[in-house]
Amino acid sequence: MNILVLGSGGREHCLAWKISQSPACTQLFVAPGNAGTQLVATNLTIAPGQFKQVAQAVTHHQIDMLVVGPEDPLVHGIVDYFRADSRFNDLLIIGPNQAGARLEGSKDFSKQFMLSHGIPTASAQTFTSEQYDKALNYIKNHPYPLVLKADGLAAGKGVIIANNFKEAETALKDILITKKFSDAGNKVLIEEFLDGIELSVFVLTDGLSYKILPEAKDYKRIGEHDTGLNTGGMGAVSPVPFAGTAFMQKVEQQVIKPTIAGLRKEHIDYRGFLFIGLMNVAGNPYVIEYNVRMGDPETQAVIPRLTCDLVELFKATGNQNLASFNLTITNKTAVTVVGVAGGYPEGYEKGNPISGLEAAEPNCLVFQAGTQQQNNNVQTNGGRVLAATAMANTIPEAKQLAYNALQRISWKDMYYRKDISDDLLPYLK
Ligand code: AMP
Ligand code: GLY
Repeated sequence: MNILVLGSGGREHCLAWKISQSPACTQLFVAPGNAGTQLVATNLTIAPGQFKQVAQAVTHHQIDMLVVGPEDPLVHGIVDYFRADSRFNDLLIIGPNQAGARLEGSKDFSKQFMLSHGIPTASAQTFTSEQYDKALNYIKNHPYPLVLKADGLAAGKGVIIANNFKEAETALKDILITKKFSDAGNKVLIEEFLDGIELSVFVLTDGLSYKILPEAKDYKRIGEHDTGLNTGGMGAVSPVPFAGTAFMQKVEQQVIKPTIAGLRKEHIDYRGFLFIGLMNVAGNPYVIEYNVRMGDPETQAVIPRLTCDLVELFKATGNQNLASFNLTITNKTAVTVVGVAGGYPEGYEKGNPISGLEAAEPNCLVFQAGTQQQNNNVQTNGGRVLAATAMANTIPEAKQLAYNALQRISWKDMYYRKDISDDLLPYLK
């Protein structure tokens, strides 16, 4: 079959790399892709948000399967766009429709969803701009820390952890009054602070059944030991040693099953990835957020651990045969470390040549993100430039291999955290 992947990050390079290994894949396209996706697929210069152009490419290249990488086109209804057109009746799409994508697109919707289906989560109250005074009153009368969240998509920046009334008042004004996050801030959620350790659980569902993919831990801050500004993610490790069998059973019973059942009860036809951000609070899972796509860079640690055929897995998802699919996973540990442009997540340069890409392999996988091909050279073209993933029997071995690979690669002002996976060592038996 012919397959089109939408997106341009490390997540999409990794998905394309795995798809390209499948005997079921005839031609593979990525739109718009990067210099890495070009190694395993044909890049198309189409933005994923341009639905009409995506549809033209689907027709022109006789695409049988569309894999939507990022959340934006899902939240804006790309699946509904194709489903409304009978020419695309046979097109398999990996990604939920707009109703399903609200689990990520609206924090208020997802909170109400969790509460009405009995899924453990932090208690919260929602306020609109008109209810500013009521919200102010609320933050006066609650213990700290408190978590304030802009309702809509805010590129990962719409969550503020306030340690006192002053910080909460500033966040409230920023969101509701000065509209720092524009329409994403039409509502604010004020939430109880959960004290625990975070992990990401990934599920693939066909709306009827589900498969639990390997879980991962993300490293969100720019600085070592989780300091400094938030980023899209600076590294990932899978599996997560503190997510043992007993904990994962709680996740399945208390979170995954009621989530899939809740989608069915609400008549949401969900065929795609569900990324559940969880807090482990004294051994019990609480949902922090849902995302309706894979994580980046978590994909780069999760997908290489699948030993089954990803295209067959996607076919089973699109055709609602997932229950009978045999998902297989290696028990090796994957460590992924992201290399970024100096200055990220604030201002950074683009267009710097990257050297050493060939030397980095073969002990390791290199997934490109913010890169572009310029004649015979690969150049930086984004904040997160690429990631090295290594797999081994133990975390320290995988970590060593991933860093060996990154040390062979360079560009002007390249930066990466040196401590990815170190926090997990105390959990190793
Ligand atoms: P989100 O965009 O919802 O993933 O939130 C961003 C980050 O804020 C999360 O990854 C957590 O580290 C933190 N966070 C969100 N909600 C809470 C909460 N209720 N308690 C503690 N930390 C939270
Ligand atoms: N790495 C976090 C995310 O993809 O949302």
